[in-house]
Amino acid sequence: MTDIKTIEEALYSYIPKNTIYEKNLVDSMRYSMEAGGKRIRPTLTLAFAELLGATAKEAMPFACAVEMIHTYSLIHDDLPCMDDDDMRRGKPSNHKVYGEDIALLAGDALQSLAFDTMTLDETIDLSGYEKACKCVSILSRYCGTIGMVGGQVIDLEYENKNATLDIITEMDKKKTGGLIKAACLMGCVVGNANSDELLAAEKYAENIGLAFQIVDDILDVTSTEQELGKPIGSDAENNKTNYVTELGIDECKALVDKLTIEAIESLSVFKGDTSYLVTLAKKLATRTN
Ligand code: IPE
Ligand code: IPE
Ligand code: MG
Ligand code: MG
Ligand code: MG
Repeated sequence: MTDIKTIEEALYSYIPKNTIYEKNLVDSMRYSMEAGGKRIRPTLTLAFAELLGATAKEAMPFACAVEMIHTYSLIHDDLPCMDDDDMRRGKPSNHKVYGEDIALLAGDALQSLAFDTMTLDETIDLSGYEKACKCVSILSRYCGTIGMVGGQVIDLEYENKNATLDIITEMDKKKTGGLIKAACLMGCVVGNANSDELLAAEKYAENIGLAFQIVDDILDVTSTEQELGKPIGSDAENNKTNYVTELGIDECKALVDKLTIEAIESLSVFKGDTSYLVTLAKKLATRTN
C-alpha cells in the first residue's frame, strides 16, 4: 500500500506555482495542506483502487482531490462563524494566521483545485474521460448539499438545540461519511468495480464513516489538545448534540465496534486481498488522534 509520504508528495505537487499577486492565498492553502493530518481519505481511495488491481499512480489525482476538499472543509469548520477553533493539525488554525477573509478563500480555492486536479490532461491520460467524469460526479455529489456541506448545516442548525439520534445519524453520515464514501467509491471507479463491489464499498464507507465521527466526538471529550492537534471540549463549548451527549462514552464505544464489524463483513464480496482495509477499519476504531 502507498505510504503517506508518497501521497503527500503528489498532493503538494498540485499546489499552484508562480503566483505573484495571489501569494498570500497560495501560502494559506499550502499552510493547511502541509500541516499534516492522517490522510485517511486518500488512503481509502488508493486502497480500493489497488484492491481492484489498479495502480496507485492512476488513483492518485482522485486521492489528492478528496484530501483537498477535506482540508477546505477543516479550514471553514474552524472559522469563527462555525466552530470557532484556534488550533488544527497541531498548528494555529488557518484564519488565525491568514485572517478570516483569506482562510475563506483558501477553502474555496482548494475546492476548485480538487476538480481541476481530476480533469488535468495528465489525469485524463492515465484514466480516460469516463473514469474522471464519474469521479467528478461522485466527489461533487458527496461534498455538497447531500454530503459534507449538508451535514455541516445540520450540525450548525442543531447547536443549542436537542437533536434526535436520527438527526445526529443523518448529520454524521453527511458531514463526515460523505467524503469518506466519495473516497472509497472513487477508488472503485478507478479499479473498474462491478455493481456488487460498488455496493460493498458503499456499505464499508457508511459504517466506517459513522464510526469515524463517533470516535471524533469521543476524543473531543477524552483526549488532549496535544494528542489531537486541535482543541478538546469544542463540542461542549458550542453546545453540540452528538452521539456522546446522547448515549455516553461506553455505549458509543460499543457502537463503534459494531459498525467496524459490519464494515469488515461487507468486504467479503471482493476477490482480492482485503487485509489492508480490514486493518484500517480496526485502526480507525481504536485511534487516539
Ligand atoms: C477531522 O477529520 C474532521 C472530521 C471529519 C471528524 P480527520 O480526523 O481525518 O482530520 P485530519 O485530516 O487527520 O487532520
Ligand atoms: C467536522 O466535524 C466535519 C467536517 C466536515 C469538517 P467536527 O467539527 O467535529 O470536526 P473537528 O472535530 O473540528 O475536526
Ligand atoms: Mg464542526
Ligand atoms: Mg470542528
Ligand atoms: Mg469534532
